[in-house]
Amino acid sequence: MDAIWTLGSRSVAEHPPLTGDVEVDVVIVGAGITGLTTAQALIEAGLRVMVLEAGRVGSGVTGGSTGNLYATLASGQAALRRKWGDQVSADVVQARAEALDHIESLVKRYAIDCQFQRQPAYRLLTEDRQHAQHNLNDELDALVSAGLDAEMSDGPGLPFDSWGLRIANQAQLNPLHYLQGLANHLIGEGALIHQHSPVREIDAGKGTVKTDTATITAKDIVQATHTPKGISLVQAGMLVSREYAVCAKLRSGDYPEGIVWVLDPFHSLRSYRHGDDHYLVVIGEKHKTGEHHGDHYQLLREYLESRFDIEAFTHQWSAQQYGSPDGLPYIGRMHGSDNLYMATGFGADGLIWGTLAGRIIADRIQGNDNPWQARFGARRITPGKSVLQYAKENVTVTKHMLKDYLGTEKLADFSEVKAGEGRVATVDGEKLAIHRSTTGELKVLSAICPHMKCIVHWNAAEATWDCPCHGSRFDTDGEVIEGPAFRPLETVQERR
Ligand code: FES
Repeated sequence: MDAIWTLGSRSVAEHPPLTGDVEVDVVIVGAGITGLTTAQALIEAGLRVMVLEAGRVGSGVTGGSTGNLYATLASGQAALRRKWGDQVSADVVQARAEALDHIESLVKRYAIDCQFQRQPAYRLLTEDRQHAQHNLNDELDALVSAGLDAEMSDGPGLPFDSWGLRIANQAQLNPLHYLQGLANHLIGEGALIHQHSPVREIDAGKGTVKTDTATITAKDIVQATHTPKGISLVQAGMLVSREYAVCAKLRSGDYPEGIVWVLDPFHSLRSYRHGDDHYLVVIGEKHKTGEHHGDHYQLLREYLESRFDIEAFTHQWSAQQYGSPDGLPYIGRMHGSDNLYMATGFGADGLIWGTLAGRIIADRIQGNDNPWQARFGARRITPGKSVLQYAKENVTVTKHMLKDYLGTEKLADFSEVKAGEGRVATVDGEKLAIHRSTTGELKVLSAICPHMKCIVHWNAAEATWDCPCHGSRFDTDGEVIEGPAFRPLETVQERR
């Protein structure tokens, strides 16, 4: 099922399929918020820009996000301050507040109809008031000392008791409509945006990017793909997770306003209007990609049912997150290549980080100074702040390599795979990803991820093959949905 943001979708002008050899100044891989923010700044500077998108504009993580825009981090300002100190805590807030203002300025300048509105954000606990105040004192102090307008507050009209913090002057929008509006403006200004054009190879040395049908040569290449494609050092320490969203209509008609983070346990709530219809969105149930434990959508539905007067559930979707080893994003030139850029490690806070990344990368390409370039640089090394996560993620990869290669079940016959089921099994000594559709069609693929050879896992909630090592995901035909893999899972059925 699609995200709520697809209601009232705007069409984006289609360029004809890309063929042959093309030359541009900058090629950007990915038409999410990072890619299009970069493109906007470069087009404005008069550069010839091409954007290649594997799916449709905004169909990746941006279109699956919450649409919440905030200068703090969802994981909390106090945690950031403890790790990095006062100066970095204040820098993060200032950089993110500037990015939020930039989104607002583009919405106004191009008259993008995406329901942008300033709203407060709340961090709430549902135990007693005294307990909540005691527990959130550090957070309040960190928010205020980082420059935010925050105060102790009750929750915003929720049907259950809640107490916590209110942060003024944050914002919300429909992230998909924002990107579609931005894309149409950029196309009008001369940007070449090619949808349905997955990239199969990037050669920074030659300055080329290859799709299935074309080779693009450019002075600079931007990987606005949420995590860099191919093999990169940063992937070794990245925490890759999935988070789920469920949307409902309420009988009561009382929808909370603002960004609402309920912390015990963490759930993000917001409301959204489309025409006369009003909806409540809940986001939560985060887990590591490739490690599924039960029906995450059902758990979110139960969460809403236990707290709100639900009339009907209407939408559900999920999105991926990449958490960096030291808690800050990596933005800018990649190791070993002065013409290849990346932006990754946004965690749950990608709309603002993506916007900031677009501005930093566009400045870097033009040779302009950007005050945040050094703070969030992609080549920084921070062993004291990241070694623990590097160690944990390497253990995860090793664990999956051993367990999945040694422990895969043996299957005597494909008929054992029932309709609607996906299974990873060893057949004639080969690791296979086997799926039978609800109509009975059998698809057999290699279960070996083309990125770095981990074994993919079946994701029943989304009917995809997900790699637990660095988050590559594939549809039931094997095509790459997201993640660092360039190539699809190999089809093996024809050989049998
Ligand atoms: Fe790296 Fe699969 S994503 S091995």
